[in-house]
Amino acid sequence: MGQEFSLWWQTGVIYQIYPRSFQDTNGDGIGDIPGITSRLDYLADTLRVDAIWLSPFYPSPMADFGYDVSNYVDVDPVFGTLGSFDEMLQGAHDRGLKVIVDWVPNHSSDQHPWFLESRSSRDSLKREWYVWRDAKPDGSPPNNWLSWFGGGAWEWDETTGQYYLHSFLKEQPDLNWRNPEVKRTMHDVLRFWLDRGVDGVRIDVANMILKDPELRDNPPNPEPAATSGHARAYWSQVHLYDKSHPDVHDAFREIRGVLDDYGTSAPRMAVGEMFESDRRASASYYGNNLDELHMPFNFALISAPWTAQAVRNVVDITEAIVPAGGWPNYVLGNHDQHRLASRIGAEQARVGMTLLLTLRGTPTMYYGDELGMHDVPITLEQVHDPWELNEPGLGRDAERTPMQWNTQPNAGFCALDVQPWLPIAGDYREINVAVEREEQSSTISLTRSLLELRRAHPCLAVGSYRPVDDGPESCFVYLREHEQHRCLVALNFSAESQTVALQKRERGSILVSTHLDRVEEVDLSRLHLRPNEGCVIEVGRR
Ligand code: NOJ
Repeated sequence: MGQEFSLWWQTGVIYQIYPRSFQDTNGDGIGDIPGITSRLDYLADTLRVDAIWLSPFYPSPMADFGYDVSNYVDVDPVFGTLGSFDEMLQGAHDRGLKVIVDWVPNHSSDQHPWFLESRSSRDSLKREWYVWRDAKPDGSPPNNWLSWFGGGAWEWDETTGQYYLHSFLKEQPDLNWRNPEVKRTMHDVLRFWLDRGVDGVRIDVANMILKDPELRDNPPNPEPAATSGHARAYWSQVHLYDKSHPDVHDAFREIRGVLDDYGTSAPRMAVGEMFESDRRASASYYGNNLDELHMPFNFALISAPWTAQAVRNVVDITEAIVPAGGWPNYVLGNHDQHRLASRIGAEQARVGMTLLLTLRGTPTMYYGDELGMHDVPITLEQVHDPWELNEPGLGRDAERTPMQWNTQPNAGFCALDVQPWLPIAGDYREINVAVEREEQSSTISLTRSLLELRRAHPCLAVGSYRPVDDGPESCFVYLREHEQHRCLVALNFSAESQTVALQKRERGSILVSTHLDRVEEVDLSRLHLRPNEGCVIEVGRR
């Protein structure tokens, strides 16, 4: 049959940590790297994930909470020091955990010394490190490009009398990747972290690094809501020219070259964040010869309607478009999306976790989703995310609240007398690691069981995927097979009982049900699923 997929980033499960919100140790109400170190046992032994991805911890004015980097090769004092990073990395490796860091190549902070120099004069040696252009004759910006965070993408600079490009906040000027010095320097940044021993990078808005060199106007979008699901001004255009230039492929091949230089015995990996409405375009970044990104992040499960048919469609399309030899991946939550439990409800969130951890492809989990954490209501005074201030309703604070560790005030995230940077969920006394660990039917118990199953059953980690058509419309049923081993996954997306009737008369044994109360032999020609129930079932060997 096929090819073996046995590399760490293929068989493993990635857990995203938002460092500000994981564990505070120095009493400022903001999580830090020593906090992560102190929780490595939880990650490696209690939960047993395989890799952690840390959102940015680099020096930053925090206009976009670290995605505005003012020094790519250091640690912000809020989070620790390079020394504490090294300790964390060592601790992770000692426990068999891989570490992925965030790399933000599209833009720096406007406080980065490179940009300060670039904006100091038109003759600055770093002028061409960013994208500067004259105004149009009427004084307006060079083209119609828009910022992801609202408003135009160009900011006027009084001192030097030109506009600079910022695809995000004006505090995040876009680097000019067409300048060889920028490219070289950013490759060196990568090497800095790889030399320290990190195992991989998550590339922020990877496909945006190269734009149309002529800076042509984007055309209007005839169907803004169809593209995006919501009608904000950003989608009034087709983003034809401000991202995904064909040269991105060359840039990715070169980045891949940097990673591959570290050899194959401990392969380093790149996973790229990208937003492409065309799924094929996204898959093209594996590279024609699998020589670009190891994985372009697949967010399709987040944007799909939560129905069995729509979700199956996402998976079938994913299977169809990943090139031969490429490895799929799935994401159900991150620091930019409403929490899974808030999007689809607490009960379906358990079905979602079962799906994520039993599909063919690397799952990336978001911290706290293993507990069923939900969005926390944020009052106007508590807003931190600049996006919320620009475009009310779009802020991301609700999904970035502190991790809930125990029943103490502040949920064990920070000391009792400290104010956490974002509020803690009102129900943290029930939804937290300490309580859920002891509860047999908790979401953490389910997550742990699924992680254990994935580890124990190679068919779940690396087996093939085959959808099964015999279920009712509101169920998604699929088989995972590897050598002699087979597991059937049956997920009920509805709040009613359903019966799955496989045509072939076969028996199987339930290994785990989302309800965690059922380990039994079943007849697969009459498999009853309770409301919101998902089951992973071992089917007789072939
Ligand atoms: C994508 C990141 O995930 C998001 O949090 C950030 O605001 C933007 N890129 C800009 O870096």
